[in-house]
Amino acid sequence: MSYPNVRLRRLRQSSKIRELLEEVRLSPKDLICPIFVQEDLKSKLEGNSMPGFERLPPKDVVDEVNSIANLKIPAIMVFGIPSHKDDGGTSAFAQDGVVQKAISEIRKNLGNEIAIMSDVCLCQYTSSGHCGLVKGDKIDNDSSLDVLAKTAVSQARAGADVVSPSAMMDGQVKAIRTALDDSGFTDVAIMSHSAKHRSSLYSPFKDMAHSAPQFGDRKTYQLPYTNPKEAMREVETDIAEGVDIVMIKPALAYLDLIAMTRRRFNVPISAYSVSGEYALVKAAAMQGWIDEKEVTLELLTAIKRAGADMIVTYFSKIAAKALGEK
Ligand code: PBG
Ligand code: ZN
Repeated sequence: MSYPNVRLRRLRQSSKIRELLEEVRLSPKDLICPIFVQEDLKSKLEGNSMPGFERLPPKDVVDEVNSIANLKIPAIMVFGIPSHKDDGGTSAFAQDGVVQKAISEIRKNLGNEIAIMSDVCLCQYTSSGHCGLVKGDKIDNDSSLDVLAKTAVSQARAGADVVSPSAMMDGQVKAIRTALDDSGFTDVAIMSHSAKHRSSLYSPFKDMAHSAPQFGDRKTYQLPYTNPKEAMREVETDIAEGVDIVMIKPALAYLDLIAMTRRRFNVPISAYSVSGEYALVKAAAMQGWIDEKEVTLELLTAIKRAGADMIVTYFSKIAAKALGEK
């Protein structure tokens, strides 16, 4: 052997030395916890395909967010499920809409104890279940931008710190930035779902959020998972439009794209570990086939190792508790 003194195991002999040598550290501070608020719900309701993750009635939101903040998780991402859907997605931007009310209640009761991020999309609000407005048999880009911009402004007005467009309409960051600035919300940041792929890992979410498309699919707006160069163009375009944080979505099957974004762009990167990723782990854990906590920490650390600065995950509370026990 040409390097007789090299013994990599030397630094693995004591748990304290191992701790010291950790190159990537997962912390509750890396996590963004999604919450689903359903307007007409009277009590918490577990998702069919997301065991352990519940939709909240409006009255329970503040308590739940408080318990998230107590776990030292710095941010939530609010999704709404409105009672009323229509062609124009009008409940998305109503100032007394389910998300807007939830945001202002959280702000009023918890102040700046937690950062409030909110999803900006139309699919829960349109009768079609599409992320943009339908014209004929198509999803119309530019008329959707107006509604997305109005939605973002209404959420900013309610008290959101960060708005997070997930509709994958071209120009959504620019439209939202312009509208926010025109309304005086120059300090409200945009975390865009920049490289959001058309993924079959979203099914549990669509069931939870009642947002499945009523015809067709999302292939005319979401990215194909075969096209990494196109994904980088989406990221590049969002940066040019003034995005504050880009997102790669889903996370686990797209670690290469997180790493590629990290190498190419000097911008904060979030990764969205989606509902299907949660369901895969949960299902195996519920069978007793894997250790839920350990697998969760391993997978979230891998997302960070790939280059993500923050992770939107349904495992936020489970991971933050597990990290607290370490
Ligand atoms: C819709 C939206 C989806 C998700 C977040 N926002 C579903 C979709 O695009 O069909 C999926 C998130 C998840 O699966 O956790 N704008
Ligand atoms: Zn959508």
